[in-house]
Amino acid sequence: DMGGHDTYMHKEISEQADAVDRVLRGRIDEKFSTVHLGGLNLDAREARGIRRVKILGCGTSYHAGMIGASLIEGLARIPADSEPASEFRYRNPVVDPDTLYIAVSQSGETYDVLAAVQELKRKGARVLGVVNVVGSAIAREADGGVYVHAGPEVCVVSTKCFTNTVVAFALLALHLGRIRDLSVADGKRIIEGLRKLPGQIQEILAAEEDIKKLAAEYADAKSMMFIGRVRGYPVALEASLKLKEISYIHAEAYPASELKHGPLALIEPAMPTVAIVPNDSLLEKNRAAMEEIKARSGRILAVAHQEQEKADHTILVPKNEDELDPILMGIPLQLLAYHTALALGRDIDKPRNLAKSVTVE
Ligand code: F6R
Repeated sequence: DMGGHDTYMHKEISEQADAVDRVLRGRIDEKFSTVHLGGLNLDAREARGIRRVKILGCGTSYHAGMIGASLIEGLARIPADSEPASEFRYRNPVVDPDTLYIAVSQSGETYDVLAAVQELKRKGARVLGVVNVVGSAIAREADGGVYVHAGPEVCVVSTKCFTNTVVAFALLALHLGRIRDLSVADGKRIIEGLRKLPGQIQEILAAEEDIKKLAAEYADAKSMMFIGRVRGYPVALEASLKLKEISYIHAEAYPASELKHGPLALIEPAMPTVAIVPNDSLLEKNRAAMEEIKARSGRILAVAHQEQEKADHTILVPKNEDELDPILMGIPLQLLAYHTALALGRDIDKPRNLAKSVTVE
């Protein structure tokens, strides 16, 4: 049942405020400025012993894991990174007893992720799951974890589950942070930021008509460049994947800082750039990158907290805490991919060559 929407993708994009409400519900602990995660299976002493976090997933879940890693590193000050599960399992990785492994999956059935979890468990590692489908293979195999509570996702490409997975990581990072060195004040600050998310998501979704017009403006692109820095880079990667999957327009995602090391050679009017430009300590650096693109007559669409003069168009997103900004900046780009694909007449819920869950190698 599409509930009045023309596609499941549109329905699922539109449901995100409620979905985020669900992943937060019942988990916030005001008294200690932290969160309770019932199924984690990791006591405080064990949490203090973690020396490193390795996050494993595929596709969109890998991108959500990248933002998760930066949340864990930022709030809990534990070195963390995200790697495609498929790469990890084939490179005979060193499995370290002080590393916490986290498997990320919407379906909980992706074979490469499941195989990585099984290999880790066989070697005695502790593995948590950040999973949407309750009781799925990865959820059952993991030692514990955080359910994402996005609700059923039917469209082949992931939208609301991406957003909820990142929020689930914010909860986990806050929990680990408050067991370690995150202050009460910072805990409160993040909780207040989390509480603002559903309302801010509604604000973004209310601007859909404007984003639809922008999609029409850029749908003639042969190829698109997506750039962001640090927290903005995984947002760029995810937005470029979404565009590729449903519109079949070629897209590249690069850290803005890498442009001058090669990809700048691609910039011309037929290859517009989407730039992720939050109001954080890297704002001036991002403006400089936009200037370089303009100097090569590239068109720029910025996703930003304030109007960007260097860009041809700006999609405005409400500001949250710096750490939580990536959650919001991806949402208008889901709509951009959606309306681009719609303008090109694509089969949005069932893109060619793709399946909802990849249960084979
Ligand atoms: C992207 C997409 C895929 C999945 C990937 C992992 O829109 O749908 O890239 O994210 O196949 O799937 P899960 O999260 O079910 O493990």
